[in-house]
Amino acid sequence: MTASATTASTIRLLAGYHALGRAAGLSDHLTQYGPPPLPGTTTRSHAGQRLIQVVEEAGLTGRGGGAFPTARKMRSVAASRRRAVVVVNAAEGEPASGKDRLLLTVAPHLVLDGAALAAHAVGAREIVVCVHAGGRLAADTERAVAEREQARLTAVPIRVCGVPGRYVASEETALVSWINGGEAKPAFTPPRPYERGVDGRPTLVSNAETYAHIALIARYGPEWFRSCGSPDAPGTALFTVTGAVAAPGVIEAPLGTSVADLLRMAGGPSEQLQAVLAGGYGGTWLPLPLVHTPTTPAAFAATGAALGPGIIVALPTRACGVAESAWVLAWLASETAGQCGPCVFGLPAIAADFAAIANCQADASVYRRLQQRLSVIAGRGACRHPDGAVRFAASALQVFGSHLSFHERAGRCLAARRPGLLPIPGRG
Ligand SMILES: Cc1cc2nc3c(=O)[nH]c(=O)nc-3n(C[C@H](O)[C@H](O)[C@H](O)COP(=O)(O)O)c2cc1C
Ligand code: SF4
Repeated sequence: MTASATTASTIRLLAGYHALGRAAGLSDHLTQYGPPPLPGTTTRSHAGQRLIQVVEEAGLTGRGGGAFPTARKMRSVAASRRRAVVVVNAAEGEPASGKDRLLLTVAPHLVLDGAALAAHAVGAREIVVCVHAGGRLAADTERAVAEREQARLTAVPIRVCGVPGRYVASEETALVSWINGGEAKPAFTPPRPYERGVDGRPTLVSNAETYAHIALIARYGPEWFRSCGSPDAPGTALFTVTGAVAAPGVIEAPLGTSVADLLRMAGGPSEQLQAVLAGGYGGTWLPLPLVHTPTTPAAFAATGAALGPGIIVALPTRACGVAESAWVLAWLASETAGQCGPCVFGLPAIAADFAAIANCQADASVYRRLQQRLSVIAGRGACRHPDGAVRFAASALQVFGSHLSFHERAGRCLAARRPGLLPIPGRG
């Protein structure tokens, strides 16, 4: 995934990459940003509290999909008297997302600076960076960690942990279970990781991009961070914009930028569009009139949509949104961690109903059954995987309403026989 250029004033996390045109090594990083602003003479607890306060004033929210206030999470971890652990979630399970991979590849030291600062603030004794196992990103990240060790920049030891490339493996309790030597499956909560996580210690799990923002906020302050974005959703965010656009890639833009503007930044639609997928496979389809929605969690929630981890996929009119949704739902069903009935039985049932609809083999009873299934599954799994799948399915029913009637009437849909546009892992 490449990075697309946006206007200079709104490029923060990717500024080094746009200036250099390649990944930044440690010396590039130090030339651009100077050493990480770890406090010198102040006591750890005082300096840590100060950083948490600055992150709070900045209004930083997590960039992993939930938009939870980062300072609140840091404060909960710091409140424990036990030594904590910091986990960097760069496992990026959403197939249509590429932002964490890109960020950790081109600006690894920004992410690691943020993790080191967070570790200092919450009193952590270890940093664990989670990436997909065995890939190039794991090797590159190991190299970046070694560079820091050589330069004696690591007050807290950092290790890279390879995680299975499954959708639910990057959910925070699944990561903790995997780091602890268990399966990469979500755990039943409470306790949440901030209470008892890695080695039973209070654990801060945040997205890779979130840590990179912490690194910049610590250097430039909360006012600088808030000078971009909207008052209720400050700062920039990384968006992965793909599908029918001229220049697909990762774009850094202020939160609050409309979906339509993000499409423009990605070169504009390359063909006529019918809808946009926002938020990934746990997100929602947006009808075209809603592409002017600003990308803030509140504005999205007001339309019933979810921003998730900044994924935007432009769906052209030549594709069948019903078939695309059916393929995604079949994949989501196959990604269950197999622990909760509503997820294990409910998601395949929803996927089967969608497959029948996509194949023009569904009558009114299938639609009734599907609506009923969608209404009982959400909120009943140990993790939010089924909630995301239900949200995605419900939005498909809403947004592709007229095409659904066509499927009911016509007996066949040629567009549904074309190769799928949305990425499905393992599909040839
Ligand atoms: C099924 C599922 C998959 C998830 N995948 C990711 C992921 O790939 N990357 C990520 O950062 N967060 C993911 N999350 C959210 C994490 O559990 C966690 O909330 C996040 O890493 C916290 O970081 P943040 O506060 O910086 O957003 C996922 C959640 C669920 C329910
Ligand atoms: S809801 Fe599904 S994915 Fe989540 S823990 Fe339960 S079975 Fe696993």
